[in-house]
Amino acid sequence: MTAIAIDGPAGAGKSTIARRAARELGFIYVDTGAMYRAIGLYMLKKGVDPSDADSVVPLLSGITISIAFRDGEQRVILCGKDVSDEIRSPEVSMAASNVSAIPDVRAFLLSLQRNLADGNNVVMDGRDIGTVVLPNAEIKIFLTASPEERARRRYEELISKGVKAEYEEVLSDLKQRDYNDSHREVAPLVPAKNSILVDTTGNTLEQSVCQLIGVIKERLHS
Ligand code: DC
Repeated sequence: MTAIAIDGPAGAGKSTIARRAARELGFIYVDTGAMYRAIGLYMLKKGVDPSDADSVVPLLSGITISIAFRDGEQRVILCGKDVSDEIRSPEVSMAASNVSAIPDVRAFLLSLQRNLADGNNVVMDGRDIGTVVLPNAEIKIFLTASPEERARRRYEELISKGVKAEYEEVLSDLKQRDYNDSHREVAPLVPAKNSILVDTTGNTLEQSVCQLIGVIKERLHS
C-alpha cells in the first residue's frame, strides 16, 4: 500500500488539493480533520467545553466515528449520523482545534486513521500525518500559505456555502487555531523531517493542484 501524507495549517488548500491528487492517482482521500471536527461537534451538542479534557475524555467511549465513501467523497458518520456538512461551521472548527489538543482524543482517532491506510492506497490530510500517524509514508508534503491568504480563502469558501462570516473574524480565528495547533504538547503541527515544503501563497487553486500533483507523480515514479 502507498501512503501520501499532506500536512499543513488550516486553509492552505490541503483538502481540495489532496482530494484532486487522490482522484488522479486512484487513491482514497482521507480527511482526518473531519474526524476531530466530529468529536468537536459531539462535545458542543452535549454542552461540554471542548477544551476541558476532564469533561471530554469520559465521553469518548460513547462515540463511534466511521468513514464512508459516497461518489468518491468522504462522509463522516458520527454515532450513525452523517455529519459531513454540519462539521464545517466556524464554531465546530474551533471546537475541533480544542479537542485535538487532548492526548486521549488523538489516541482515540489514531487506530481509525492507521486502519484506513493499512487497507488502501491513501492520500491522507491533517496536521500530524507525516510525523505521527503515518511516519513511513512514501511522500510527505507540508502545504502552507500566508495567514491572510488562508483566511481570505476560508472566508470565500464560507460565503459561497451561504455561511455568514466576517473576514477579520475568520483571520483571528485562523491565527488562534494556528497557535493552538502548533503549540500543543502532543503531535503539534510541524513539518516532518523529510517533508517537501510547498507554499501556495499567490497561487490560484489550479496552480497549486498542478504543482502538487507534479511533485507527487515525480516522487512516485522515481
Ligand atoms: O483540517 P481541519 O481544519 O478540518 O482540522 C480541524 C482541526 O482538527 C484543526 O484545528 C486541527 C485538528 N487536526 C489535528 O489536530 N490533527 C489532524 N491530523 C487533523 C486535524
